[in-house]
Amino acid sequence: MSAPDRIDELRRLIAEADHAYYQLDAPLVPDAEYDRWMRELQALEAAHPECVTPDSPTQRVAGAPAPAFAEVRHAVPMLSLANAFSDGEVADFVRRVVEATGETAPAFSVEPKIDGLAISLRYEQGRLVQGATRGDGATGEDVVANLRTIRVIPLVLRRTPGLPLPEVLEVRGEVYMPKAAFERFNAEALARGEKPLANPRNGAAGSLRQLDPRITAKRPLAFFAYGVGEVRGLELPPTHSALLHLLGRYGLPLSPEIDVALGLEGLLAYYRRIGAARDALPYDIDGVVYKLDRRDLQERMGFVARAPRWAIAHKFPAQEELTVLEGIDLQVGRTGAITPVARLRPVRVGGVTVTNATLHNADQIARLDARVGDTVVVRRAGDVIPEVLRVLHERRPLAGDGTPLSPPFVMPAACPECGSAIERAEGEAVARCTGGLYCPAQRKQALIHFASRRAMDIEGLGERLVEDLVDFGYVQTVADLYRLGLDDLIAMKRRADARDGVTPETVKQGRIATRWAENLLGGIDQSRRTTLERLLFALGIRDVGEATAKQLARWFGSLDALMAASLEELQAVPDVGPVVSQRLHGFFAEPHNREVIAALRAAGVHWPEGPPQRAAEGPLAGRTVVLTGALAALTRDEAGAHLEALGARVAGSVSKKTHLVVAGEAAGAKLDKARELGIEIWDEAALLDFLRVHGRWPPA
Ligand code: IVH
Repeated sequence: MSAPDRIDELRRLIAEADHAYYQLDAPLVPDAEYDRWMRELQALEAAHPECVTPDSPTQRVAGAPAPAFAEVRHAVPMLSLANAFSDGEVADFVRRVVEATGETAPAFSVEPKIDGLAISLRYEQGRLVQGATRGDGATGEDVVANLRTIRVIPLVLRRTPGLPLPEVLEVRGEVYMPKAAFERFNAEALARGEKPLANPRNGAAGSLRQLDPRITAKRPLAFFAYGVGEVRGLELPPTHSALLHLLGRYGLPLSPEIDVALGLEGLLAYYRRIGAARDALPYDIDGVVYKLDRRDLQERMGFVARAPRWAIAHKFPAQEELTVLEGIDLQVGRTGAITPVARLRPVRVGGVTVTNATLHNADQIARLDARVGDTVVVRRAGDVIPEVLRVLHERRPLAGDGTPLSPPFVMPAACPECGSAIERAEGEAVARCTGGLYCPAQRKQALIHFASRRAMDIEGLGERLVEDLVDFGYVQTVADLYRLGLDDLIAMKRRADARDGVTPETVKQGRIATRWAENLLGGIDQSRRTTLERLLFALGIRDVGEATAKQLARWFGSLDALMAASLEELQAVPDVGPVVSQRLHGFFAEPHNREVIAALRAAGVHWPEGPPQRAAEGPLAGRTVVLTGALAALTRDEAGAHLEALGARVAGSVSKKTHLVVAGEAAGAKLDKARELGIEIWDEAALLDFLRVHGRWPPA
């Protein structure tokens, strides 16, 4: 085979492999084979420079930096789409289509609206010769060198038997940055101390505008085709959906979400389906696009201004909006953690009015350099808490002398709720109020947590009621809930109404509504009967979540056993490390907490207790171990706790059921007996080796 023929063959093989790998996610050949083809092609091209063409796969990242982009006049203008923001506007669109075409339930090509950058790829005799941005629709810029670096864009159209190559085919579509690539790119940029990209769309646009294609090549971009521009030497199919399918056969990537829908019902169903799938899609979309499918009917409807009358974009509510930061409030959580919260001028984001957003912590405020009065970008996506993404510093209000009106944020020294000191532990991002349950904010949060469904599950006790109960002094601790009577609740309600300046209908009619209070008391009463794990979780001990509470309840079997446990014994519980054992020990050592627990019991809160269930898990599961003699590095209790944590049962005396005896210094009768019975015996060094192997020595 001649060199030019082999070059052709290699290019075809590589293009097929690229298509399979990047678009079908089904690699054709092992990487090693692909690399061999690539190297062979490079060698042949080096030997035959006259054969090097821009559509060779070796040239994807070849071009030298350009001084500027050449202008491109679009043979067929690149139009935009009219937008619909409501079902009603879509209904109007469908009505216009029905009127213009006489079809009762017209078919539409329905497609995701990719949030990227519109591009026109020009193929002549099957080769990519030009790739232009939209520009003003009539004239754009030739960024083909950058587009060639995008692996999913074919450099030559795929040839299939029976499918002729058109003389000219302009493919219109969207260049975008996949979400995962965006996250990865930003993580790496941050690690290098570089500026991250604001969003995937900016990422795509900025990358294509690079004059040096080698930079673009490092940006993970992709492309979806959604239409055509100039076409010569090819008969186009009668519908848009068939046209897209044809582009797919030429090797162009299509969004897998593309579909055909009938009539208004079909369009709205598609909108809801894609809306629900939006967060899970691997690329950003900002809506869906409906295009009348029959091309003859498209032609009949024509254009208005710069948009087709036969298509419309149905936009999703925006997820980002601009608003003004009116203040920074501090929220005190159950464990005293202080979260700065942005108070915002109300703004609609994603169909919901947002009035505040998290600023996370003081470091984040410093990073954003956010000040009161600033114009900020808020984002609300899915179910997540709205957050302040960035600050438009150029819009910051300035005083006459050009200095900012507001000073930078500083975390106050005292809790805004109770005046206790705010402290921030070394190496921690979170600042905390040190007031504990003296702090009404922490008390309210503790009550809300106590009553929550997965804790004591007190029906009828919502946040508003908790606020009032604390503010009017009816409840100090969780135990006080169980002392509330009907009269208390009704008196409190009257005071709350007076404070709010409202007179409920029922009161006007001379009656008192007591149903809610009776329901609440019923809910409180029902919560008296609970389980030890729920109670432990409900107490709100820091770092004791549901799983740990469950472990503790099983391990100790009773609250008294848990409260009496030493630090070592606590650490023996699987998953309980030094931090949690400290928290537990500290919590139960606090007289105030012991009083609350006693009061809960006195108020009739009860739960079943039983013998400890120490899971037979770990390397010593099912083994009975006896400790004897004196150990040097740790006490016998500590050693026993470690062994239990590894699944052993620790017994006091040696018998035929004993599997292992750990003998320290001056071990006596038990060691003799173990020898007599032929039981395995370890000295202290063997024990420590074993603990070391299982990550329990030296202790953390
Ligand atoms: S069709 C004549 N289809 O949205 C119709 N556009 O506002 C031309 N876009 O500039 C556009 N996904 O950048 C079409 N499936 C899709 C699209 C899409 C994203 C962008 C495109 C265009 C803008 C129109």
